[in-house]
Amino acid sequence: MTASDPSFTWSGRFSEPVSDLVKRYTASVDFDRRLATQDIQGSLAHAHMLARQGILPPEDLAAIERGMAQIRDEIAAGTFVWSLDSEDVHLNIERRLTALVGDAGKRLHTGRSRNDQVATDIRLWQRDTIDTIAALIAELQRALLNLAEQHVDTPMPGFTHLQVAQPVTFGHHLMAYFEMLARDAERFADCRRRTNRLPLGAAALAGTTFPIDRESVAAELGFEGVCANSLDAVSDRDFAIEFCAAAALLMTHLSRLSEELILWMSPRVGFIDLADRFTTGSSIMPQKKNPDVPELVRGKTGRVNGHLVALLTLMKGQPLAYNKDNQEDKEPLFDTADTVIDTLRIYADMVGGIRVRAENMRDALRQGFATATDLADYLVKKGLPFRDAHEAVARAVRACETRGCDLAELPLDELCAFSPLIGDEVVEVLKIEGSLAARNHTGGTAPAAVRQAIARARERLQ
Ligand code: ARG
Repeated sequence: MTASDPSFTWSGRFSEPVSDLVKRYTASVDFDRRLATQDIQGSLAHAHMLARQGILPPEDLAAIERGMAQIRDEIAAGTFVWSLDSEDVHLNIERRLTALVGDAGKRLHTGRSRNDQVATDIRLWQRDTIDTIAALIAELQRALLNLAEQHVDTPMPGFTHLQVAQPVTFGHHLMAYFEMLARDAERFADCRRRTNRLPLGAAALAGTTFPIDRESVAAELGFEGVCANSLDAVSDRDFAIEFCAAAALLMTHLSRLSEELILWMSPRVGFIDLADRFTTGSSIMPQKKNPDVPELVRGKTGRVNGHLVALLTLMKGQPLAYNKDNQEDKEPLFDTADTVIDTLRIYADMVGGIRVRAENMRDALRQGFATATDLADYLVKKGLPFRDAHEAVARAVRACETRGCDLAELPLDELCAFSPLIGDEVVEVLKIEGSLAARNHTGGTAPAAVRQAIARARERLQ
């Protein structure tokens, strides 16, 4: 193609075509063709408005609608010819439209620029993607709730510093992740509100001289309003950055859960088994069953965090208004969405297939003096200042360590030696079930409290 080729979009201004390398370097069609559906949707809404405003004759609108319907079919059938010569999704579709319907196709771009066009396309795409992600988060939350419900009274060690701290129930532990995901869903919903504003009408940067009606385009496309400033509308990608930030936090939560699944699945710990379909063997060590899926979730979190930093960095040096830098927003954004969507899909299924080894959880509890705090609390309730209680129990723990037993296994008379306040009823206090049941308040680990938390969570998910 040469600059004199009539199909060369800005041929009037140039005396030579770009080199092949520059063409490849500047083209985005290989990745932004993913926006084709949104591009057609936005173009049709724009054309409808132009016709309503008397800017576009009705027969041209009819031709554009006919052409776009055919283009849609061609894209769906895989027969649409994407060309690097047309640089991006917008020019590819516009050029095909013009080939199909002639001058009407050339009139579509009246009062519009690719700058407000692309910003509109991405926002439409991101809005739909958020809806997909929201549904998938809810599905994973449901899977967590189902498992938590089966284990409201399954004791396991709660850890701080990865050292056994106090007994919790496995259900309670799982509900911690439910809460994290609930906040992730809120963040995406909040981001959706700011995403759902219409840039079209901003044109290249300053608005347009045509008597457009932006509000009606916004209404047709389901936007909650229009971007209030044309320079801002075409240039900022903060909505995409917010999306990536919400995604990075979501992945961070799933990465933490993955780390736990990996630890719990280690034969040294043995708290759970993952279904075989989420693990792989080793090519050399026949005994291995590796938690590849959670490991990859942990790994892919780094990639999503990277995309967030890429977009922040992309934006930070840009003067108003549109700069071509912004074309670089798409690959990180798309990859973030793909990664999050695949991860959530796999995760809901994986959680559903967790097999819990309750005996191992209980054994681990017996080895960590998990009820030491309960003993201290017991002494405090008997009138001992907490620091003195702490001291007395610490001495008891040391004695247990020497004997190689748990607090509950120490003969009562030996235990009583650590404080005259200790009586028979301490036996109940040192039991795991007693320790759990005692933490019966909102947010606590008592089975009764966890049952209520699950019921409330189910309501929130409705
Ligand atoms: N492909 C471009 C992008 O993704 C579309 C906008 C191009 N605008 C321009 N003035 N070069 O941002």
